[in-house]
Amino acid sequence: MTAAVRCQGIVQIYKTRDLEVVALRDVDLAVEEGETVALLGPSGAGKSTLLCLMAGLLRPSAGRLWLHGTEVSRLPQAALDRLRAAEIGVVLQNPARNLIPYATPAQNVAFAQRGRRADRRRIAELLERVGLAGVRRPAGGLSGGEQQRLAVAVALANRPRLLLADEPTSQLDAASGRAVIALPRATAAEHGTTVVAVTHDEAVSRALGRTVTIRDGRVGAEGRRGEELVVVGREGALQLPPEYHHLLPPGSRVRVEPLEDGVALRRAEP
Ligand SMILES: Nc1ncnc2c1ncn2[C@@H]1O[C@H](COP(=O)(O)OP(=O)(O)O)[C@@H](O)[C@H]1O
Ligand SMILES: [Mg+2]
Repeated sequence: MTAAVRCQGIVQIYKTRDLEVVALRDVDLAVEEGETVALLGPSGAGKSTLLCLMAGLLRPSAGRLWLHGTEVSRLPQAALDRLRAAEIGVVLQNPARNLIPYATPAQNVAFAQRGRRADRRRIAELLERVGLAGVRRPAGGLSGGEQQRLAVAVALANRPRLLLADEPTSQLDAASGRAVIALPRATAAEHGTTVVAVTHDEAVSRALGRTVTIRDGRVGAEGRRGEELVVVGREGALQLPPEYHHLLPPGSRVRVEPLEDGVALRRAEP
């Protein structure tokens, strides 16, 4: 089966006037079609950067990225734009950036169906499911939470194969957060949509099938069904889970002892 997303050795460097920031270093990750993934990790870890790369909004500085088998890191811009319009729904971190401020919620969803005839039933159903049925104020006048809910409806307007969302519930209370995340989940279940969502919200990450934790620009850990596993990176690099940092603080010298099914790490006396 072709993965929905495959990242191989992805590096992302932002160059500003007088310094370079390495936001991602050697990210290897595959997301299978129909999977629902929560991207976790501390602020500044590189989560938004990874999501923008998957959305085709950024080109990686190095490494290769495939979406549904097409290598997008090498695709000409026009072909990338077509692929994005046809296959990807994106909810950016700042909800207002996803919306046309002077258009109503229904017009925003209709506009996102560009290239197709507006599907009135679909528009009404999406707005109903995010609790905005009958709201006719322009998007610019909606609250942050309402804008966030509308942004999810807009991202799903075209029935994308891949939904990418950056903290889609950050401005919602727990109940509307659950309602908003229920929509992509239902879409995933009904249409096999792949969902990748950056989130700090435990209820959201529990609702998704798999967690991927980004730390310091790398995939540090992965979880499924509540079990969190550390991922061995290139050259054998490991990120200790934060709860063990006091046992092996940074700078510790460690003896690596082979076991039958792995290794043990023991602090050597200085
Ligand atoms: N446009 C940019 N220019 C320069 N540095 C950036 C830019 N965007 C993000 N960064 C830096 O890249 C790193 C990762 O950022 P980001 O992907 O936004 O992390 P997260 O979403 O996990 O908080 C951070 O150090 C951040 O300051
Ligand atoms: Mg971010």
